[in-house]
Amino acid sequence: MDEFSGRTAVVTGGAAGIGRAVGRRLAREGMKVVLADRDAEALEATVGELRAEGAEVTGVPTDVSKPEENQRLADAAFDAYGAVHLLHLNAGIGGTVPLLDPDPAVWQRVVGVNLLGVVYGIKAFGARMVESGEEGVIIATSSGAGAEGTSYQSGPYAATKNAVVSVVESLYGELRDRKANVRAALLFPPLTESSMGNPRVEQWLRDNGVPTTLMQPEDVAELLLDGVKRGRFYIRINETENDTLFDGRLDQAFFEWNERVTRGRAEAQIADTAPDGHLW
Ligand SMILES: NC(=O)c1ccc[n+]([C@@H]2O[C@H](COP(=O)([O-])OP(=O)(O)OC[C@H]3O[C@@H](n4cnc5c(N)ncnc54)[C@H](O)[C@@H]3O)[C@@H](O)[C@H]2O)c1
Repeated sequence: MDEFSGRTAVVTGGAAGIGRAVGRRLAREGMKVVLADRDAEALEATVGELRAEGAEVTGVPTDVSKPEENQRLADAAFDAYGAVHLLHLNAGIGGTVPLLDPDPAVWQRVVGVNLLGVVYGIKAFGARMVESGEEGVIIATSSGAGAEGTSYQSGPYAATKNAVVSVVESLYGELRDRKANVRAALLFPPLTESSMGNPRVEQWLRDNGVPTTLMQPEDVAELLLDGVKRGRFYIRINETENDTLFDGRLDQAFFEWNERVTRGRAEAQIADTAPDGHLW
């Protein structure tokens, strides 16, 4: 997609962090932006902030783990603007609990938001976007934990972010088979400063052998926009984007680590060994 001005975007988890930065960036491209978030107060504040910058923004309080609230969000967006061109299913929460802990509550919560939130979003918007005939893209936010190896200390998070990859790959296939004018894409943010990422997490990851660099939500918004413009499916920072968008801010060691872990997982499956090489 290379036309943004006058078109409509919907971003979930839009009141803070990456979603807020994406909303702001798309509004600067001239898009009409609908932000959805469970935190109604933060949402109102973000909408006010972006409007003060001249953006056309609406906020719809939404809990993405509830199918009927996704439906209400889609109704609000289509009623207001007639079409949705860019849907960013970005709302997500962390989840760290040992599997040996007998309480299922964290799993239920994280699956509800990170996995079912994406599925319900696709169900509420997907068919309507396709049937409108308008050009569109549906992007879901995964994570490094969903792409490179398994963050086993955060089982619910890693499992749901892995599942998001699978869901959106299936969506890609369905849209391709239908020759739809709507594409699917996956966003893999690097470690990003937000309620989920901070210098302490960066240090912890480095101490555990992950040569990561803390990026800003605005960086991720830039990455997403560039990826959508170039029609990428896996929108992540590879060495090309590191050079063209971020002046080489990510350490070369990060890409080497990433490749080793990604290959390690595939090789462990082929060689029928255990996941020691890619658990982190
Ligand atoms: N920050 C990182 O390092 C990082 C890295 C990889 C992936 N991600 C992913 O990026 C996405 C955005 O995270 P962020 O870093 O901006 O965190 P954040 O906590 O700053 O923002 C997430 C937003 O989602 C909202 N939200 C949570 N549950 C919701 C629900 N049920 N319904 C609607 N809104 C809900 C929150 O209120 C919040 O405004 C998440 O999916 C996260 O897993 C983040």
